[in-house]
Amino acid sequence: MKELKILGIETSCDETGLAVVRLTKEAGKLPQIKIIKSVVASQIKIHRPWGGVVPHLAKREHLKNLPPLFGQIKPFAKKLDIVGVTVGPGLEPCLWSGVNFTLGYFEEIKRRRPKTVPKLVGVNHLEGHLASFLLDPKIRRGKALNAAKVFPAVQLVVSGGHTILVRMSSLTRWQKLGETRDDAIGEAFDKVARMLGLDYPGGPLIERLAKEGDAQAVDFPRPMAHSADYDFSFSGLKTAVLYYLKDNRLISGRKDGFSRNINAKTELNRRRADIAASFQAAAFAPLLKKTEKAVKEFGARSVIISGGVAANKALQSEMRKLSRRLGKQFFVAPVKYNTDNGIVIALAAGINPAAKLKIEAQANLSL
Ligand code: KG4
Ligand code: ZN
Repeated sequence: MKELKILGIETSCDETGLAVVRLTKEAGKLPQIKIIKSVVASQIKIHRPWGGVVPHLAKREHLKNLPPLFGQIKPFAKKLDIVGVTVGPGLEPCLWSGVNFTLGYFEEIKRRRPKTVPKLVGVNHLEGHLASFLLDPKIRRGKALNAAKVFPAVQLVVSGGHTILVRMSSLTRWQKLGETRDDAIGEAFDKVARMLGLDYPGGPLIERLAKEGDAQAVDFPRPMAHSADYDFSFSGLKTAVLYYLKDNRLISGRKDGFSRNINAKTELNRRRADIAASFQAAAFAPLLKKTEKAVKEFGARSVIISGGVAANKALQSEMRKLSRRLGKQFFVAPVKYNTDNGIVIALAAGINPAAKLKIEAQANLSL
């Protein structure tokens, strides 16, 4: 058994996240996690007026937030074994803010406590998402679940920047099966939300509206749901929504278009809920199809989803149903750990401390 105390630092996009966790590793088992302290500063309010993340504003906020957040974490960050910092993929100015902050912190430790300098590990942000399922309460309660009962697994990473299907033979060995050829699914949610007159980020608002709408009201295309590969595409679906809105004179911004108030019981809001529900169902269909195909082809024992879009309860429920039908286990982190945070970065660093990523911003790093 090996215990590691790890500090994780995340600044790749619009959340500044720091966390200290304890990871207990045992051969053949999934690691056990204790979250000692986690802080996240979200920048949603800063970027909302712009309808998306503005890189230079995001960097400014990271630089502003890092020192006070670190002040909150520091009392818990004694005797660290590892410090993991996200080096990519992400927005380059944002990545540098976390990397430079971490390097500055290391300079200080080397000066003050040269005998107890922790190991510095550059973390691939996507590996953070891949590790997030370890926070599923089923795993945390299960006292070191046997890894052989979980792997091989098929994991779907669905976020604002990525849509990737992965076959995992263990926590450290995996193979990318396919990914989106154009927009990420979260990006499509955010863009469609904007067309519907909704605020950024649109994913959670579409989810809310979809609950009240009829998913069969509009027959949007289900792109690549039946293609022979494991790739995805969401830009055609996004365009289909745009044409539907144009054809039906429902474009937002017009006086008689959608308002920001999604609660009023108006005819326009009812139609908007139908469009949201129909879009969501069309966007999820290829995810479900390709996940099922991969589970069957690779004889997976479990289905895992991660990333911001995995916070969507409708997607969780469909994936859970699919897993049950196929007789597989299903894992997903609690909602707040699907979006970006320091905990999952610490986990990725602890799972693979031998990773040799350079400690510099690598905006286009892939899995
Ligand atoms: O993983 P994440 O926090 O950041 C990236 O690494 O990209 O994902 C953010 C994305 C946004 O596009 C957001 O709209 C989407 O996740 N998202 C959702 C939900 N919550 C967040 N999409 C659909 N339903 C949700 N409940
Ligand atoms: Zn992310």
